[in-house]
Amino acid sequence: MDKVHVIYGSTTGMTEAVAGKIAQALGATAININSADAAAFDAEMLVLGSSTWGVGDLQDDWAAQLDSVKANFAGKKVAVFGLGDSQGFADSFCVAADTIANAAKEAGATLVGEVLKLDDTNEADQTDAKIATWVETLKAAL
Ligand SMILES: Cc1cc2nc3c(=O)[nH]c(=O)nc-3n(C[C@H](O)[C@H](O)[C@H](O)COP(=O)(O)O)c2cc1C
Repeated sequence: MDKVHVIYGSTTGMTEAVAGKIAQALGATAININSADAAAFDAEMLVLGSSTWGVGDLQDDWAAQLDSVKANFAGKKVAVFGLGDSQGFADSFCVAADTIANAAKEAGATLVGEVLKLDDTNEADQTDAKIATWVETLKAAL
């Protein structure tokens, strides 16, 4: 079994870009949730990423898949990251990431690290440093 898979949903490519950076830092594969098959969930640790849309909604591909895939989180180490806009959507900033983390916990996953919430719209200069720190936490749990 692979150590880590990064699984993301992304509408305009921002979460996809971050998923690629996280995957690279972990030596892992990044997989779009819109093309994830059973093998996508076959890893010791799943790193799940979603942007937030609407007002606090899951990214569309996650919205379509979460209920049907969440049973795969059972018994896994799961880490969650999200992208959002903390200025435009202060009251619903990165809520989709919390939604996925809660679903993983309910499904019987062990959550690893804090939910990483990134604002690549207004604070893009902080993204790489936040990823680097967070990834160290995940590596320590592997
Ligand atoms: C119509 C619309 C609704 C949004 N709603 C939220 C929101 O509720 N909370 C939030 O944190 N960000 C929200 N965002 C910001 C996006 O999550 C942000 O642009 C994100 O980086 C997009 O990532 P993606 O390209 O991977 O989908 C919204 C953006 C748009 C255009």
